[in-house]
Amino acid sequence: MIPLAIDEQRLQRQIDELAAISEAPAPIVTRVLFSEADRRGREFVRQLARTLALEVREDAVGNLFARWEGTDPTQPAIATGSHVDAIPNAGRYDGVVGVLGALEAFRALKASNFRPKRAMELIVFTAEEPTRFGIGCLGSRLLGGALSPERAAALSDREGKSLEAWRQQAGYAEKDLSSVRLAKNRYAAFVELHIEQGPLLERENIPIGVVERIAAPSTLRMDLTGVGGHAGAVLMPDRHDALLAGAEIALAVEQAARHSGSPDTVGTTGVFRIEPGAVNSVPFHAYLEIDLRDTQRSTRDAALAQVESAAEQICQRRGIGLNLERLNVDAPAVCDAQLVKTIEGVCGQLGLSVKKMISRAYHDTLFMAAVCPATMIFIPCRGGVSHRPDEYSSPEQIKNGVAVLGHTLAKLAQ
Ligand code: GLV
Ligand code: MN
Ligand code: MN
Repeated sequence: MIPLAIDEQRLQRQIDELAAISEAPAPIVTRVLFSEADRRGREFVRQLARTLALEVREDAVGNLFARWEGTDPTQPAIATGSHVDAIPNAGRYDGVVGVLGALEAFRALKASNFRPKRAMELIVFTAEEPTRFGIGCLGSRLLGGALSPERAAALSDREGKSLEAWRQQAGYAEKDLSSVRLAKNRYAAFVELHIEQGPLLERENIPIGVVERIAAPSTLRMDLTGVGGHAGAVLMPDRHDALLAGAEIALAVEQAARHSGSPDTVGTTGVFRIEPGAVNSVPFHAYLEIDLRDTQRSTRDAALAQVESAAEQICQRRGIGLNLERLNVDAPAVCDAQLVKTIEGVCGQLGLSVKKMISRAYHDTLFMAAVCPATMIFIPCRGGVSHRPDEYSSPEQIKNGVAVLGHTLAKLAQ
């Protein structure tokens, strides 16, 4: 094996520097797509990539590619990457470990005088997180063809500002969204390094996970229109309170997930906004975003159907108008068995024990798996905590992941 000197202290400093680029005060990390923090976060990565003499380009939706040219540029490249956008009230490791960790792997490979035969590319995916447009993995969906350019162009955020308008403002609109889709055979493989976002590796004291399958996510958006009025004057039998319908729907989500027959079904009403939001006024409008997932598609689909029919019944009974939209209903992904074996082999050589895992969180790998053989490397995170400011993986745990990634990329690029 080529000797790889991973500098975990340098990497930790970079992770901390990027964490300071946030829309909220430390320790909270918030970098919502197209915010000033998101723009500066991308610039931070761009600068780092340039210091490594990587060739940087961005596509029409802002996916960033940093390429280390191979000695045989006719061969499809090996890709790695993740995201640097962060949901509100997030931590510093989700996505970031796979981006800055990949750059550290490139740096260590370069320092060991390694020359890849196939090119290696870091991809920083646009909006893995769904915060602005409600749909996760915006960049990788377009790359893999899971989202059509027409549907993407029609997306709009809560202020009604469209993706097209945002692209214009961010300077990505020169090219059409249809240009984002990856050509067949563009990549020979894709491997994403990520924190586990679950408790298993820590609990079992295993430093590395390798992902065999990624659970199937889905997202619903619901607009409920009731009748507003004076909190003192409108008597209870006359009410059409949008919040109460929404509250019943949120409980129906919980019921559907709990009683799906699969322990892996999870349902979350993560967005619930009401208007006018005044204590002495009956809510005339409620807006919900609902996340439903399972490792199996069949139980997820059944739970989804149950939530939709419950929402219709609740709204009918309460005299509430319902506009329901399925933002995404995705299949689970199966990772490439050969790549999983390769990573297990690398772990063996490094003396690191490894566990085959299912990812319950979704990742850009879910959509890259449609483009080329793909899998993920997981590292433990404290208490399995993620999507919280106290998310944590130690420099040593990250170093292990970067070493496995670096050696895996080197093997694949030869
Ligand atoms: C990714 O952030 C997810 O919600 O699984
Ligand atoms: Mn996340
Ligand atoms: Mn992530």
